[in-house]
Amino acid sequence: MKSKLPIGILGATGMVGQRYIQLLENHPWFEIAWLAASDRSSGKKYGEAAKWRLDTPLPRRIAEMTVSPAEPKNAPKIVFASVDAAIAREMEPAFANAGCAVLSNSSAFRMAPNVPLVIPEVNADHLEMIEEQPSRQSSGGYMVTNPNCSTIGLVMALKPIEERFGIEQIFVTTMQAVSGAGYPGVASMDILDNVVPYIGGEEEKMEAETLKLLGKLEGHAVNPLAARMSAHCNRVPVVDGHTECVSIKLGNKLGRTATREEIVEAWSEFRPLAGRDLPFAPEQPVEWAGQPDRPQPRLDRNRGRGMAVTVGRLRPCNLLDWKFVLLSHNTVRGAAGATILNAELLASLGKLEQNPPPDSSGALKRKKAMEIGDAIVAGVTALVTGGAASGGTGVC
Ligand SMILES: NC(=O)c1ccc[n+]([C@@H]2O[C@H](COP(=O)([O-])OP(=O)(O)OC[C@H]3O[C@@H](n4cnc5c(N)ncnc54)[C@H](OP(=O)(O)O)[C@@H]3O)[C@@H](O)[C@H]2O)c1
Repeated sequence: MKSKLPIGILGATGMVGQRYIQLLENHPWFEIAWLAASDRSSGKKYGEAAKWRLDTPLPRRIAEMTVSPAEPKNAPKIVFASVDAAIAREMEPAFANAGCAVLSNSSAFRMAPNVPLVIPEVNADHLEMIEEQPSRQSSGGYMVTNPNCSTIGLVMALKPIEERFGIEQIFVTTMQAVSGAGYPGVASMDILDNVVPYIGGEEEKMEAETLKLLGKLEGHAVNPLAARMSAHCNRVPVVDGHTECVSIKLGNKLGRTATREEIVEAWSEFRPLAGRDLPFAPEQPVEWAGQPDRPQPRLDRNRGRGMAVTVGRLRPCNLLDWKFVLLSHNTVRGAAGATILNAELLASLGKLEQNPPPDSSGALKRKKAMEIGDAIVAGVTALVTGGAASGGTGVC
């Protein structure tokens, strides 16, 4: 890529917004050109508006940038969005209708039928769905989403198994880090010396998103994986890194039960992005940890620069076929890093530079786009609020 693509961050002051800033420092393809947040922050220097919570210094150039209002006017053509679902539901279509490629972290549109929910290693082909979005026709803009932070790790571990052996049932119990609730998140008096066995909407999101991600794009829609799934989600006193205990019943693609060695081999050989030269793609997306007491958040969350999922403790399950433990970094692989990798994939496919700038389409076209946009928002909002599966305004 000759010159870097300017990108904007919507929700730049939040937990995920800060991760974008940290991860995009020195990114070879993208450069932060615009930062936006709520009215509380807009007009201030980023260094004053944001309570920087990460363990690397806030880059000086970013600290000096002025936070913009969260409006498409003056935003670059590529927007990484990390705002609460209730806000995203209104804002993200407005940016897409104005010609922006919106890469979203929120749950608002993940289950919308014409919006791709993508993990590049798992279902890159689902990106085709952007062509079905009315905004793509009118202004060039579109929306792409990445999954919930606990779903990403699970699906990356399941994909190589599903491909080779098939999966019929999935049972997962999560132990999710506090950073998954944003900042300030869960009160310290609620989480220290404690486990909270409830994260609003999380179990429904995991169950629905997993099956969409592992589903097949058939014609214009995704046919979800026909597996049964049950999730238990818990908040635990860990800062970063979601741990998940998983049991699975395999399908019959082999005509016999897979062995432990075959499952470990499926994980080790899973390198679907090899040779594509995407800067954020981990060389080994699913890393096997053979020690009996791994993976652990403090020891394993930064594998593959936070972009790899670590799996371990694979053993027979007395109820289903096999059980194992996985770990992934929730704000890197589970949020900001996931969006960046989606953007790299879109750039490599030539889909980030094709959309015309928001002001080049003319008044008539813009009016038409707004009308179509209202229709998508109405349709998708009905879909999102109508079904428990897509999850309301809860975190992740
Ligand atoms: N944390 C995770 O691990 C994780 C993982 C996956 C997905 N997600 C999803 O990513 C999104 C952001 O999560 P987060 O953890 O970063 O949340 P957060 O720390 O609470 O940050 C929220 C951001 O949204 C901005 N905002 C609030 N109201 C706004 C408005 N009316 N207009 C424009 N911006 C507004 C805030 O700006 P101000 O500072 O000005 O208030 C802040 O920048 C959520 O949808 C969440 O579910 C989070």
